[in-house]
Amino acid sequence: MVSIAKVLLAVLGVAVVVVLIAVPTVIFLKEEEGSNMRTFTLFDVFNYTLKPASYNMKWISDYEYLHKETDGSIFLYNVNTNMFEEFLNRDKFIARDAYDYQLSADRRYVAFMSNYNKVWRHSFTASYSLYDRQSDKDITPSDIPDVVQYFAWAPTGNKLAYVWDNNVYLKTSPDSSREQITFNGEPNKILNGIPDWVYEEEMFSSNRGVWWSPGGKYLAYAEFNDTLVHNIEYSWFGEDQYPSTISIPYPKAGTPNPVVKLFVVDTDNTTIVTEVVVPASFSKLEHYLASVTWVTDNRIAVQWLKRQQNHLILQIYDISGSSRNPVEHLELTSTGWIGRFSPSEPVFTPDGNSYYLINSDNTKYKHIHHVVRGVATPITSGHWEVIEILKVTQDSVYYISNEKDNKPGGRNVYQWTNQGSRCLTCSLLSDCEYNSAYFSHNASYYGFSCSGPRIPQYYLMETRSNKQIKHLEDNKVFEGEISQIQIPTMRRGTIKLHSYNLWYQMHLPPDFDESKKYPLLIDVYAGPCSQKVDLRYRVNWSTYLASTQKIIVASFDGRGSGYQGDQLMHEIYRRLGTYEVEDQITAAKEFIKMGFIDRDRVAIWGWSYGGYVSSMVLGSGSGVFKCGMAVAPVSKWEYYDTIYTERYMLQPSENQGAYDNSTVMARAKNFKSVQYLLVHGTSDDNVHFQQAAEISEALVNEQVDFEAMWYTDKDHGLGGSANMHVYNHMSKFLHTCFA
Ligand SMILES: *[C@@H]1O[C@H](CO)[C@@H](O)[C@H](O)[C@H]1NC(C)=O
Ligand SMILES: *[C@@H]1O[C@H](CO)[C@@H](O)[C@H](O)[C@H]1NC(C)=O
Ligand SMILES: *[C@@H]1O[C@H](CO)[C@@H](O)[C@H](O)[C@H]1NC(C)=O
Ligand SMILES: *[C@@H]1O[C@H](CO)[C@@H](O)[C@H](O)[C@H]1NC(C)=O
Ligand SMILES: *[C@@H]1O[C@H](CO)[C@@H](O)[C@H](O)[C@H]1NC(C)=O
Ligand SMILES: *[C@@H]1O[C@H](CO)[C@@H](O)[C@H](O)[C@H]1NC(C)=O
Repeated sequence: MVSIAKVLLAVLGVAVVVVLIAVPTVIFLKEEEGSNMRTFTLFDVFNYTLKPASYNMKWISDYEYLHKETDGSIFLYNVNTNMFEEFLNRDKFIARDAYDYQLSADRRYVAFMSNYNKVWRHSFTASYSLYDRQSDKDITPSDIPDVVQYFAWAPTGNKLAYVWDNNVYLKTSPDSSREQITFNGEPNKILNGIPDWVYEEEMFSSNRGVWWSPGGKYLAYAEFNDTLVHNIEYSWFGEDQYPSTISIPYPKAGTPNPVVKLFVVDTDNTTIVTEVVVPASFSKLEHYLASVTWVTDNRIAVQWLKRQQNHLILQIYDISGSSRNPVEHLELTSTGWIGRFSPSEPVFTPDGNSYYLINSDNTKYKHIHHVVRGVATPITSGHWEVIEILKVTQDSVYYISNEKDNKPGGRNVYQWTNQGSRCLTCSLLSDCEYNSAYFSHNASYYGFSCSGPRIPQYYLMETRSNKQIKHLEDNKVFEGEISQIQIPTMRRGTIKLHSYNLWYQMHLPPDFDESKKYPLLIDVYAGPCSQKVDLRYRVNWSTYLASTQKIIVASFDGRGSGYQGDQLMHEIYRRLGTYEVEDQITAAKEFIKMGFIDRDRVAIWGWSYGGYVSSMVLGSGSGVFKCGMAVAPVSKWEYYDTIYTERYMLQPSENQGAYDNSTVMARAKNFKSVQYLLVHGTSDDNVHFQQAAEISEALVNEQVDFEAMWYTDKDHGLGGSANMHVYNHMSKFLHTCFA
């Protein structure tokens, strides 16, 4: 389960900025003008010109990147020469009705993508047509079918692999004929080269199930056997006389998992397919394939995770010649669960002789470990965490952490060498505390993105001097527009609770006055390793509520939240639905004590895990909340999938009391004292409509009156027309509650 906001995280840009040096007249006029300026309206929430722009770039060497211009043409930028040239004209896209492209490593061929059809969160089908840049010709006739499930060029040259009808195919060049690698693919039973539902959502966070070796000699692919996995079935209403039924193998907590195998095929002779076998100590136990990382053309590193996700084996295999030997391994265990979500991937040094891995150190904070011949040594330490390893070169490790100023919601990029760490992004620009970097192949350059708290900025940087080379996006247009609107201010601080200093943030209405009383809306997620309090810049529904409705919108990261050490995060191990719920109620009480909250107008809302917590809070009988909304909530952990749920709760048979004790339904009676709005999409493949249906039944059985909205044929994200509808609907509900 990934929070809705995370889905939007994907684009990495680089960028530029313009520091707006204060123009005195603006400051002078501000107070008078303030009340004349319009507020941020509900309509503005959905207006895409009122969103800050990002900058798209894709490095294709140590000094060249591709960028899609606003007209749709692709340009190649050479940073060394400061020259740029058109690489693919937009007409090529238009002629093929293409929405995207993938370039072969040798840059000769382009796979144009068209006919996009979304499947689950990451997966989709599309058509790929190959174009030869050298001869300016399409490769015809094509032996790539129209409905392809996955497509990948090799990391060098122009070999390619694709998945069609649940089988893996490869072509050793665009002109050579395709070779079929697997033959047993069968819908909803055997999936080759693509993950099944639960692996896509919870383990890989991707639709990929094939992995090219660096030189393109070998292709590894996973085979998922979902034969014994139970199906979730629901109606697709569509427009036909009879609705149809969607059926997906979906393992719910405690039920049979898919069985996974990993194979390697030799592209020089595709009859040579070898299984990469799980280490003997796991072979009799239920386990997962957690990650696949090629080291060299002859070495592959695979992480295997026990079904109870507290024990991991990272095994390196030698694929060369006739030997498929395990050569090195590392075992990790945890008193909670390994990693934040699925285990983090190892990142190898260019020589392939050692690797870096994020794991808990002996003080239980997540830090980088250097692993040499199976021996792990931490290279960072402190009461903060490393978020991600961005790049490893011969002498450096580039990573993101939240070390600076003890702000768990901050992000900065660091370079570690034998001499220690230096921060690359800490003082580039004022008011930039949520930063990231996208490095060129050998890290000579990077795209710098500052995502807040100021209006986002993108720069191109040279790494060695750490100097900016180019402004990529200054968001001047957005800044000009938003400066004409009264925007809430953000207040962030900590509350001491259960011996932890825990962070909150509040959107305060423009012209906020401590001596007045404001209604309060708690915006909650609160899942394991979540973080709502961060230093990113956003304008969204919360902006509207604070700006126009004068509601204080607040979030709080209580026990179970992430990036502040395992002790806090593991507090809710084996007991979801307890402390993370209680802490939201306590936080609301603390906010009321601050003096500017109207205690008779307090509400809570959340989506997904947040919908669960919101419902648990409203059903707690605390007396603190007048009303609340739950969108696509979980209601009972047995209804959710194995990989996510069992990571925290073990299997129902191992922890039945906690499963029984943590349902929304058990709290139905208490909903008599609150106003409740329950929202769910009928075609939610992730948190099934079943979950809301069961809440509804329990409330009806207790004669609780409540409001509900379903969205026909919409999934967990409530996209399309449902998106504006759900925010409109919730706005109305809140307005009535606070009236
Ligand atoms: C979106 O916002 C911009 C800037 O405020 C405005 O010019 C435009 O008319 C808005 N568009 C819509 C559809 O409201
Ligand atoms: C998939 O699993 C089923 C049930 O265990 C088994 O009968 C079948 O042989 C398996 N198929 C493959 C290709 O391994
Ligand atoms: C491919 O490998 C198989 C099995 O090792 C062997 O029998 C066959 O001759 C090889 N084919 C080629 C073209 O090398
Ligand atoms: C760039 O990185 C690649 C892969 O790590 C390496 O083979 C190559 O030698 C590097 N080039 C330079 C100039 O450092
Ligand atoms: C809106 O932005 C705030 C502040 O960054 C964030 O906490 C909240 O989750 C966002 N809400 C939505 C619905 O995306
Ligand atoms: C269930 O919850 C109650 C009340 O919070 C608690 O006293 C009890 O220990 C819990 N039982 C289990 C099995 O978790």
